[in-house]
Amino acid sequence: MAEPQRVLEPLTAAAIFLVVTIDEGGEAAVRDLLTQHPALQKSVGFRNPDTELNLVIGIGSDAWDRLFTGTKPRELHKLPAYDGPKHTAPSTPGDLLFHIRGEDHGPCFELAKMIATSLRGYATVVEETAGFRYYDKRDLLGFVDGTANPIGDEAVQSVYICPELDPDFVGGSYVVTQKYTHPLEKWEALTIEEQERVIGRTKLSDYELPDSVKPPSSHIIMNTINDPDGVQRQIVRANMPFGTVGTAYFGTFYIAYCNTPSVIERMLERMFLGTADAPYDRILDFSVAQSGSLFFVPPIEFFGNLPAAPADVANESDPVVIPAFEPVIRANAAAEGSGPAAGSLGIGSMKGSQA
Ligand code: HEM
Repeated sequence: MAEPQRVLEPLTAAAIFLVVTIDEGGEAAVRDLLTQHPALQKSVGFRNPDTELNLVIGIGSDAWDRLFTGTKPRELHKLPAYDGPKHTAPSTPGDLLFHIRGEDHGPCFELAKMIATSLRGYATVVEETAGFRYYDKRDLLGFVDGTANPIGDEAVQSVYICPELDPDFVGGSYVVTQKYTHPLEKWEALTIEEQERVIGRTKLSDYELPDSVKPPSSHIIMNTINDPDGVQRQIVRANMPFGTVGTAYFGTFYIAYCNTPSVIERMLERMFLGTADAPYDRILDFSVAQSGSLFFVPPIEFFGNLPAAPADVANESDPVVIPAFEPVIRANAAAEGSGPAAGSLGIGSMKGSQA
């Protein structure tokens, strides 16, 4: 199998979710940035070995058509919007996803800043969420989040594209992101037992509730889906809480990987449009979907050998300028009018042409 991007990493202490849209005429510069994956991550990660910095890049359907010619991943399309009897989920613009993870927020921030700075003028950041690992890996509803994720071989089979699914993109994956906000005062007005029936697990000890107690509208039931042969379909989630206490802005950044978007979309259909037994997932009474996008996650080798660009995209662009890593303090530089102002970031290029 082609070497996949490092999708199956354990939950880290920090994450930054960056979604950008490509500006008109920015395609060549974006292609240039893509060729610098995974060097970009290494340039921050190597100096911070304890951080276990990890960057996964996803590409949206419209962006794919603007950036590349040739074969497109079979199931790459825009995430549909869901309009249910009570709750809705929007489909929001997203050309590229940068899923940055690490044990320390600082290097994650540094990498996000390098990406955003180098794309300035070529792409616009439309979504930026800093997530954190809450105690016991709980979400802000207070429940442990991620327990039922598959592990080992089962995770590998669930997440990476095999030749039968798409022979041209073996080792790739699909990822869906959605930002949810939680009206916590409403949630906290429930008793613990009521909350447990919304999720389908016990709150403190994270046990799955017996079937006799779990309502059909519980989050667990809504998201347990089986193929006609009875095999359960799995996805790998890496949700992170986010929030600001002063404005009582609380939420979960939902992110899930799978070798086909159809599994995640079936789950969303059940959650928002309901099943024969329940009108919608009860978690939605306490979780409001604010964004939603779908991306293809190519294997690593893709970035070193991008498909040809469409005719109207120049194959050569001025190299994307990657900001230098350290503040460059140059005495008198500002006064002399040469180089960056004292105390500002010096500019250098990973391609070494703009030093
Ligand atoms: C507000 C956003 C969400 C929150 C706070 C949340 C929270 C949780 C929690 C606490 C669990 C139980 C523990 C676990 O197995 O991880 C869970 C399970 C799960 N969630 Fe979510 N979730 C959210 C959105 C979603 C969405 C949008 C999907 C799918 C499209 C999803 C799919 C799943 C799946 C597949 C499971 C495991 C079910 C099982 O096999 O037991 N979740 N979620």
